[in-house]
Amino acid sequence: MRRGIRLTIKGGGLALLLASQAAQAQARNGAKRTSARPAPSNAQLAASALNRRVEALLNQMTLEEKAGQLAQYSVGTPTGPGTGRSDYETLVRTGATGSLLNVVGAQETNRYQRIAVEQSRLKIPLLFGFDVIHGYRTTMPIPLGMAASFDPALVEQAMRMAGAEAAAEGIRWAFSPMVDIARDVRWGRVAEGSGEDPFLGAAMARAYVRGYQGASLAEPTSVAASVKHFAGYGAAEGGRDYNTVDMSEVSLRQVYLPPFQAAIEEGSATLMSAFHSLNGVPATAHPHLLTDILRKEWGFNGFVVSDWTAVAELVNHGIALDGPAAANKALSAGVDMDMESHLYGPEVPRLVRAGKLRETVVDEAVRRVLRVKFALGLFEKPFVDETAAAYVATPEKRELARRMAEESIVLLENEGGVLPLPPSGRKIALVGPLADAPVDMLGVWSAMGDPRDVVTLRAALEQRLKDDKEALRYAKGTDVLSEDTSGFQEAVVAAASSDVVIAALGEDTSMSGEASSRTRIDLPGNQRQLLAALAATGKPVILIVFSGRPLALTDARPHAAAIVQAWQPGLEAGHALTNLLWGEVDFSARLPISFPRSLGQVPLYYNHFNTGRPAGQTDLTHPPTSSAEKYVSRYLDERNTPLYPFGHGLSYTPFDFSPPTLGAASLQARAVQKQGGEVMRVKTRVRNAGRVQGTVVAQLYLRILGASTAQPVRQLAGFQRVALAPGESRELEFTLGFKELSFLDASALRGVEPGTRYELWVGDGSRATPHASFTME
Ligand code: NOJ
Repeated sequence: MRRGIRLTIKGGGLALLLASQAAQAQARNGAKRTSARPAPSNAQLAASALNRRVEALLNQMTLEEKAGQLAQYSVGTPTGPGTGRSDYETLVRTGATGSLLNVVGAQETNRYQRIAVEQSRLKIPLLFGFDVIHGYRTTMPIPLGMAASFDPALVEQAMRMAGAEAAAEGIRWAFSPMVDIARDVRWGRVAEGSGEDPFLGAAMARAYVRGYQGASLAEPTSVAASVKHFAGYGAAEGGRDYNTVDMSEVSLRQVYLPPFQAAIEEGSATLMSAFHSLNGVPATAHPHLLTDILRKEWGFNGFVVSDWTAVAELVNHGIALDGPAAANKALSAGVDMDMESHLYGPEVPRLVRAGKLRETVVDEAVRRVLRVKFALGLFEKPFVDETAAAYVATPEKRELARRMAEESIVLLENEGGVLPLPPSGRKIALVGPLADAPVDMLGVWSAMGDPRDVVTLRAALEQRLKDDKEALRYAKGTDVLSEDTSGFQEAVVAAASSDVVIAALGEDTSMSGEASSRTRIDLPGNQRQLLAALAATGKPVILIVFSGRPLALTDARPHAAAIVQAWQPGLEAGHALTNLLWGEVDFSARLPISFPRSLGQVPLYYNHFNTGRPAGQTDLTHPPTSSAEKYVSRYLDERNTPLYPFGHGLSYTPFDFSPPTLGAASLQARAVQKQGGEVMRVKTRVRNAGRVQGTVVAQLYLRILGASTAQPVRQLAGFQRVALAPGESRELEFTLGFKELSFLDASALRGVEPGTRYELWVGDGSRATPHASFTME
């Protein structure tokens, strides 16, 4: 197809605008696939043989059976407001449902499956879905932690294992990845996503989908992914879950959609719509999102499931007068399957018969669902092996969980090199409510993770120090959320009689995740007082923070010699932490989200816009003393910068980066605009400047100046993990193509503009200084 290109004078430069509608859509799409190989499931779902089977089946279906394929019910422990039903077997037998969620165990899935494929008229297999979020039985760190690894290859491996464990029990559908960009740490669901950055978020989204879906959906170890929650859910006003979102089309497309688009390009077989309303339209009845963008622009050929009771909630949103109207709006907008609203099943046939809904709309939704069922091979292999041995957290599974945890735990501070701990000879006081709290190590949405499989920090320390009975003293000190100080005394005595204190503090699992927004983000309860009491002994304190979100550690920092952000690290929490604390493994994780100094700064993120009156380099720490200090964009009582910025994290060794060198002094906008066309190569040399082996995450940031719209002060455009021996250096190369260099103009069209300048920085964090620049001609 030939694309019309319109040249207009804009913002002092020539802007390339694409003329035709189709070309605009394609430009928005950023069309070029960036993953190394084409997504297998996209081809699978489009295969003509598969679609012939779908048509043949569809032709035999009654309206009720069609509606049944679009109706999903929850059987086991509810993961939303209970909606109560008990006739699941009847629903399956009569073809009134095509999918169940929260059924676990091979025997249970087989039992329902047998009813579907042996007793229902058309014998269509059920699709079982489940919240496999960061593991099924082998629990990995929460997604926010996994994102800190900046290691998509390892995340892919971890999620491959998670999917295979679920699939072995008949669950062939994971409600994951959750790719909602989150810039407001009050929102409890920051734990479930990959943080604040769209570029990192997109890389992680691809990794999850590749892991779940493997080389083919039909492999018995593969599960269909469900990228969620479409879209903009993370921008809930006030950080309160389910709350309203109002944002520009430009922000939506530039910040919130890229991880979704990446997951779709990677072949995510399904997508989940969100609860909130976006610009006045609930996301579960949002034709612009669900049809224009998802289907027409991105060419999605899987199916869309609503979130839990989100179809019925359209009545609460006030856009539907009753359940039937809600079902009609959701289905017509592009929600193919209704999770737990109990509306599509009964209402869709009635709506069609009443002439309010076209049957062709229903047929199309059914096709999408059936395509995924065929692609998964469910018709050929509906059952799983019930005789397989019970789950055991084998050394291989633990090894992967441990590596993933080691790569997710961030060293925020290490004053005077208190870490790593020497191999022996230190008496350690282990204190805090999270030192021995298995459930809190598993974290939010821990699926079938079993606390009995967890190695806590206390257990790992006991193992490590077992030969020296005097080496470890443990005292809980306090609970996570408590004002009771009666345990302080014991903790302080333990600290005073040791050489070093490890304080395991933070949030428990219930404080983050769905419906768990908070207006306080300091260490909860009296934990900060406990920390101060420990520090008052004069012994160095290593603070380990367990949490599902960044906490404001400003008040805690003066009391700690080292701070380690451990998130909710999963099954191998204790082993991963002790390996890191003793320096047997280097800290290599970097923050995927900014850590505020105080709640008043929220929302806070590194890739913000500049103002006309920036506070500048000074990041004022005192009240204004002159008009120059007063009339700038600042707070009177707080700095602008975060306590720990995006990309921050220490290793046990310092690294230095040479200023980047560029493949060319300029690029031609026209050539770049041809997606897959001209690219900029950026080279830098990174050196391990210390005395121990270590791993760094080399990060490339860019800023675009002189464009028709303001662009972020910095945005991530590439990253690489690099392990280096002491003194070793390596040349790294990054490639910037259309995807990284393009941006949206005021009408939300993606492109590059001549006359712009690109500033680049490379280094270990979003405050990197080695710098270069080039122009777009
Ligand atoms: C509601 C949550 O928002 C969603 O993420 C989850 O997948 C469903 N419940 C099913 O449990």
